Amino acid sequence: MNTVENKKNVIGSKIKRVDAIPKVNGKAKFAADLYFDRMVYCYLVLARKGHGILKDIDVEKALDVPGVVGVYTYKDIPGENQLGEVVKDMPCLVSVGEKVRYYGDVVAVVAAETYEIAKEAAEKISLEIEELPAVLTIEKALEDKIRVHEPTNVPIHKKIRKGNVEDGFKHSDEIFEGEFYAHYQEQAYLEPQGIIVTPDIDYGFTVYGTMQCPYYVQNSVARVLATSLNRVRVIQTETGGAFGGKEDVPSYVASYAAVAAYNTGRPAKLIYDRETDIQTTSKRHPIKSHYRIGVSKEGKLRAMEIKAYMDMGAYATLSPIVMFRTLVHAAGSYDIPNVKVDVYGVYTNKIPPGAFRGFGSPQVLFAVEAMMDEISEKLSIDPIKLRLMNTLREGSRTATDHLLTESVGAVKTLENIREISNWEHLKKEVEAFNNTHQDKKRGIGVSHIFYGVSLGAAGQHLDASGSHVQINVDGTVDVRIGGTEMGQGAKTVIAMIAAEELGQHIEKINVHQPDTAFVPDSGPTVASRTTVYSGNATRLAASELRQRLIDVFCNLTGALAENVQWGNGKFLDSLSGQEISFENLVEHAFRKNAKLNETGWYKTASLEWDAEKGIGEAYVTYSFASQIVVVEVNLNTGQTKVVKAYTSHDVGKALNPEGIIGQVQGGFVQGMGYALFEDLKFKNGQILTDNFNTYIIPTIHEIPEELIIDIVEEPFSRGPYGAKGIGEPSLMPTPAAIANAISRAIGKRIKRIPATPEYILKLIKED
Ligand code: MOS
Repeated sequence: MNTVENKKNVIGSKIKRVDAIPKVNGKAKFAADLYFDRMVYCYLVLARKGHGILKDIDVEKALDVPGVVGVYTYKDIPGENQLGEVVKDMPCLVSVGEKVRYYGDVVAVVAAETYEIAKEAAEKISLEIEELPAVLTIEKALEDKIRVHEPTNVPIHKKIRKGNVEDGFKHSDEIFEGEFYAHYQEQAYLEPQGIIVTPDIDYGFTVYGTMQCPYYVQNSVARVLATSLNRVRVIQTETGGAFGGKEDVPSYVASYAAVAAYNTGRPAKLIYDRETDIQTTSKRHPIKSHYRIGVSKEGKLRAMEIKAYMDMGAYATLSPIVMFRTLVHAAGSYDIPNVKVDVYGVYTNKIPPGAFRGFGSPQVLFAVEAMMDEISEKLSIDPIKLRLMNTLREGSRTATDHLLTESVGAVKTLENIREISNWEHLKKEVEAFNNTHQDKKRGIGVSHIFYGVSLGAAGQHLDASGSHVQINVDGTVDVRIGGTEMGQGAKTVIAMIAAEELGQHIEKINVHQPDTAFVPDSGPTVASRTTVYSGNATRLAASELRQRLIDVFCNLTGALAENVQWGNGKFLDSLSGQEISFENLVEHAFRKNAKLNETGWYKTASLEWDAEKGIGEAYVTYSFASQIVVVEVNLNTGQTKVVKAYTSHDVGKALNPEGIIGQVQGGFVQGMGYALFEDLKFKNGQILTDNFNTYIIPTIHEIPEELIIDIVEEPFSRGPYGAKGIGEPSLMPTPAAIANAISRAIGKRIKRIPATPEYILKLIKED
């Protein structure tokens, strides 16, 4: 039998993670593991006041501490004292005479011979701040009396106007209304933020660190140091989790470290402790939303009107882009003729939230799915049937009036969860449990979501990615992409694509750490876009190289190109049976001076978008998911346990099925944390829960015994082999499904997440 098959033999197969071994045996180098000669250690000085005017910074006592190399303030920034990717509203270091806008505002950077000395000196710096009343809630901010920024606390408003909602309500048999609140969530990556900036042999600076977006970091450091992009090189170190929390934040961390490196002329290391990390870095946005939905008595959605307010904290950071996703996803995965959505971004004197897996969508998906559950209950329509009746199909139009023409697996995901959960039987089982238990009640929750893949209409100018593939004379392959591995499995899927296209064994392929010196700006590693964008770029480069190898093979063997097969480390003439190993063929190619390196570049198809009406092609394609969750609520303590879960995801094509299962397991658990446990607490704008002893995330004990994952493959014609994204949709259905399950268990609507025991007890006691 032929060992070489001209078909997809790596894609879709079960493969070991390419980066598993060094991460298990401790050889992987994270930012904190790197040391440089003459390196200084940095520590940040925070404002520690919610709102006020910075009057004075007294650094004398800090400078007296032996081992302190310097204390750097706004005066020591050679370039722009400005951070932020979208709106220029955030200083790098707060200047004297300017406003402090939240507890975690950074005022100074201390550099010292050791970390301990830097920390001790930072505590000796005294700040004189003339306090102003702080704006701590969305309601207070909307009054617009005390301003976080001039001229208004509500600078951003995004909208959708599809059809005519008033008409839709007139033609509805029932109208449902609800108000919801979704709280903050901390990304809780295991590895805190960390960057090293070092003066380099190219008369510029090299930045090493944990990050999602090397090109953002490069831009930010260049701006703050008043230098050019070709004097700032960024190399990503192994990254121990990110979840959106390392999208924009590392640009800020790197900028502080860069100020220290510039002023000391020495390598500067800034590794956050957990408290600094939680006090100063982004979270999921709290969102208050109001829903009004009109339906026919059969359950057909006729109109949906939504108002949502997002707490942007003290600075806009990524909020305008996050809000775009909130806007597009607010009406859920449904075909509705009349839709009106208004999303407002509101400044407060608190931590600025930003990117977090789902990017502004889980908060509103929880709300819209709670409304769907309410409709299903009140109209006595099976919750899966109600969703099947209204979901998107080929030929449907989304809330932004985007006509879907392919890759719509929504119906299949709903049908599949019904099947894998043994739906009818499951309902009876839960009923039987409830009939025999007094203190504990079980409930079943259903949710259904969609997810716009990649940056979409609001970010299409950033939606391109490069990949450089080089074959070495020994037959090994170097792949360099601009997308980062943060634990999600990017390196493995990219290595699989290169192996598939080149026919070389995956073990011979090295996907390197991103380095801005090798790959042009490939956009951010966000928005579940890496498999599609870096993947397509790698596929383009590798298939080009394969064509060249086939030419060499044909020259050597006299084979016809159409008969050549590749795979498993060799090339074969299927007619004559002649084969040459990948290594031998490459050696021949090198002797002929063949070009065995190639750059792939993949850019997005342009999207039609009317920002005024919020109408058009919001994203290149959509992933879909459906979920069923069974919970058990202890009516005495208010505690909830997730007992069973069934989840189905349309991923287009499962390139690395094991990787998808890993993503969905992780996403489920993180979504469960948001639904039940993770409750960020504040006092006067200061976060009280700034470590994992008080900010509670799920552990292995909370994972349900039964978590069944189903994969649907509805190919996306422009995805590599048909693939779409899974990183974020893995989390998105879970908060909604759990909240609905609790509502059914206790007979009261969950309108706030996390649904903590305190909140659940309060609902139970209300009548
Ligand atoms: Mo992601 S939440 O788009 O970094």
